[in-house]
Amino acid sequence: MKIFKAMLGMTALAAASLISVSANAQTYPERTITMVVPFSAGGPTDTVARLVAESMSKDLGQQIIVENVGGAGGTLGAGRVAQSDPDGYTVLLHHIGMATSATLYRKLAYDTLNAFEYVGLVTEVPMTIVARKDLEPTDLKGLIDYVKANKDKVTVANAGIGAASHLCGMMFMSAIETPLVTVPYKGTGPAMTDLLGGQVDIMCDQSTNTTKQILGGTIKAYAVTSAARLPVLPDVPTAAESGLPEFQVGIWHGVYAPKGTPAEAVERLSKALQVALKDPNVVARFAELGTVPSAETDATPAALKAKLEGEIARWKPVIESAGQYAD
Ligand code: MLT
Repeated sequence: MKIFKAMLGMTALAAASLISVSANAQTYPERTITMVVPFSAGGPTDTVARLVAESMSKDLGQQIIVENVGGAGGTLGAGRVAQSDPDGYTVLLHHIGMATSATLYRKLAYDTLNAFEYVGLVTEVPMTIVARKDLEPTDLKGLIDYVKANKDKVTVANAGIGAASHLCGMMFMSAIETPLVTVPYKGTGPAMTDLLGGQVDIMCDQSTNTTKQILGGTIKAYAVTSAARLPVLPDVPTAAESGLPEFQVGIWHGVYAPKGTPAEAVERLSKALQVALKDPNVVARFAELGTVPSAETDATPAALKAKLEGEIARWKPVIESAGQYAD
């Protein structure tokens, strides 16, 4: 009789724990979620994050608040999330810098491929080569001639080693085989302020941060790094049209959670991301900013994992052959 009672007790206990687990799965999220953006407020990464977070919040029924943790080309913010509680209430929205920093930073505070769970891809944003509006050259060829004639005088802003603007600036310098004087910021939001004020000469920055200023005539645009011209910037030629066919780069963005975040939470976040990327407001705002949302099949953990692994493998030899590291 005793054995029977013991088994009865065990069954009840097992049933209770199953109900509690499934209840957690059904009630997640139960409170506000923090989305860390590893760059300053007002920049392109922040812009993408706030649009996506607002829409995801509606689907999740809980607010996602964006927290900007800038510095070291995005690695400080990524490290913050890597070390945060894996409870489903802290996520990271980061871009290609997640992949390049894995090689650029030899003493990174986290293991890029083992410190995160993957939620999904968000968007791939084209870059624009822009300048303060009173810079003399009127096209990319003229800018290249100007840079060569003013060696070591022309300044280029970026958001730190590992940032998309750093990568694009490096690609530009190697394409024209001429160095520029680099001016680092904690994000291209503050860098844009200095470009508008004429304190820095040029920048290679994402269309999500430059389109408004280009259309407003407050900065000069020389080229876009996409294969085709952007519908929102039809008068800005591609780098390929301007004589730099190999100069193509897209800044992909993904959402991550710290390793160990419950699978139910990751799946729920990925579903909310997929809904957000089909939100007409997100689609329209992305289009105004020169980009498009990732496809539903790319807003998945498997797609982001494959992208990150592939991009680390792609950029590792490029960075190692340049021999320039952050540490
Ligand atoms: C970058 O250069 O990586 C981004 O533009 C930084 C930012 O979002 O501010």
